Amino acid sequence: MTAPSFVVAVDGPAASGKGTIAVRLGRMFGLPVLDTGLLYRAVGVLTDRAGGNPDDEAAASDGARGLTAAVLDDPALRTRGAGELASRVAVHPGVRAALLDFQRAFAAQPGGAVLDGRDIGTVICPDAPAKLYVTATPEVRAERRWKQLAGQGETVEYADVLADIRRRDARDGAREAAPMVAARDAELLDTTEMTIDLAADAARRIVEAARARWEASR
Ligand code: CDP
Repeated sequence: MTAPSFVVAVDGPAASGKGTIAVRLGRMFGLPVLDTGLLYRAVGVLTDRAGGNPDDEAAASDGARGLTAAVLDDPALRTRGAGELASRVAVHPGVRAALLDFQRAFAAQPGGAVLDGRDIGTVICPDAPAKLYVTATPEVRAERRWKQLAGQGETVEYADVLADIRRRDARDGAREAAPMVAARDAELLDTTEMTIDLAADAARRIVEAARARWEASR
C-alpha cells in the first residue's frame, strides 16, 4: 500500500484569494500546487478556439480530451473571457470526469500536494486531511479581480467585473455536477477584511493544526 499523502484542499469562489493562498501554502509546507481552475479555463479556451459551443457537452468534452500541459502556460487562460468560458464548460459531468484522474494523481504524489478549486474537498479529495474554504464578499472580490485584470492590461469596468463574479457564483453554486460548496469539514476563511499576508498566515495556522492532527492519527 502506498503511504497516504498530505493533501491540502483550498476551495472557494472567484477572486477570494484561494489561488494566492494555495501558492503560499505550497511554499510554506514544501508541497507542489495545482490550480485546477486553470484546467477548466484551458478546456473552455480550447473548445472556443475549435469553434465549439462551450454549453454543448460533446464539444466541451472534445476540448477536455485535447488538453496538454503546454496549454496551461498560455496567458490567454488568465483573461476575463477565459474565466467565463471555464465556468460554462465546468457544468458538464463529461468534462469534470475527464479531468478527475489527472487531479487525483497530482494529489497522490508522495509527500502530498495543495490543490485549489471549487470541489477539491468535496469530490476530488474528500479525504484530504486539510480543507479550507476561502470566501470574501462579492464586492471585495470584484475589486481584487478588477485590479488584477487592469494589471494584466485588460480594460474593464468594475461594475462588469462584479456582474461576472455574481453570474459565475450563481452558475458554479447551482450546477448539479460538483457544485461549489464548502465541504462539511472545511475550515471557513473569510478574507474580506484581510490583507493577503494576514489571510496566508491564517491559512498556515489552519494547515499546521490539520497536519498535527493528521500526523497524530497515523
Ligand atoms: O480564478 P477564478 O477563481 O476566477 O477562477 P478559476 O479558479 O480559474 O476557475 C474558473 C472556473 O472554473 C470557475 O468559475 C468554475 O466554474 C470552474 N472550476 C470548477 O468548476 N472546478 C474547479 N475545481 C476549479 C474551477
